[in-house]
Amino acid sequence: MEVIILPSIEECANLGACMVSELVTSKPNTVLGLATGSTPIPVYAELVRLHNESGLSFSKIKSFNLDEYIGLSPDHSCSYRYFMKEHFFDLIDIEQDFTYVPNGMVDDISEECSKYESAIKKCGGIDLQILGIGSDGHIGFNEPGSSLSSRTRIKTLASETIRDNARFFDDEDEVPRHCITMGVGTILDAKSVLLLAFGESKADIVAKSIEGPITSMIPASVLQMHQNVTVLLDDKAASKLSRRDYYRDVYSNKPDSY
Ligand code: PGA
Repeated sequence: MEVIILPSIEECANLGACMVSELVTSKPNTVLGLATGSTPIPVYAELVRLHNESGLSFSKIKSFNLDEYIGLSPDHSCSYRYFMKEHFFDLIDIEQDFTYVPNGMVDDISEECSKYESAIKKCGGIDLQILGIGSDGHIGFNEPGSSLSSRTRIKTLASETIRDNARFFDDEDEVPRHCITMGVGTILDAKSVLLLAFGESKADIVAKSIEGPITSMIPASVLQMHQNVTVLLDDKAASKLSRRDYYRDVYSNKPDSY
């Protein structure tokens, strides 16, 4: 696990976008795993800028989003399909047919989940999975207690997540209680992972996830088991890491290639 700590969200977003851009440039048919929430927004904004100003093309990539609310149609302004179109898909040259987001409106949820898993497999797997982290340690919508080998399935949102996400809705009661989410095992299958966390409110859970024991009570902690994870933190999100000076030292002495 490489932990990179930078002073500002802007610097983290620029580096995150740079990592995505290098991958997409070297492998134009990259399969990206995408996340919603506030955290990745500045990364998408930087990627859009690189598309507009430097000709970065996404025309051959495929993307899979982590999750979607059950019961919200793609044109609902709080659905994750809508979010992705607003912040990324409609602003770049991606083929909309190759942007996969679970469909939270289907009758047969379990069929939708197995179709989603099959589609990821058919595309050759996810090359880079972008992740945020919930204040309860969730990745995707894998709430505490999720099986560490779970696959795409229905989950019930934890009350902490409902409270956190209420800011996107007019009222807390409007936040759907259920979602479809890639499982922890699905996320672990990605060839590489980029976890982003910004701000003081994430400092506690970031420290527990990176330096604490691996436990299903903090699903993000399982990333310690993955071979290729980069964690990108601003100073505030990194403030409770006991070994933050070491991580800074490692990054500033990083050999050009290894
Ligand atoms: P946030 O959400 O980026 O809005 O903080 C992260 C998450 O719930 O995964």
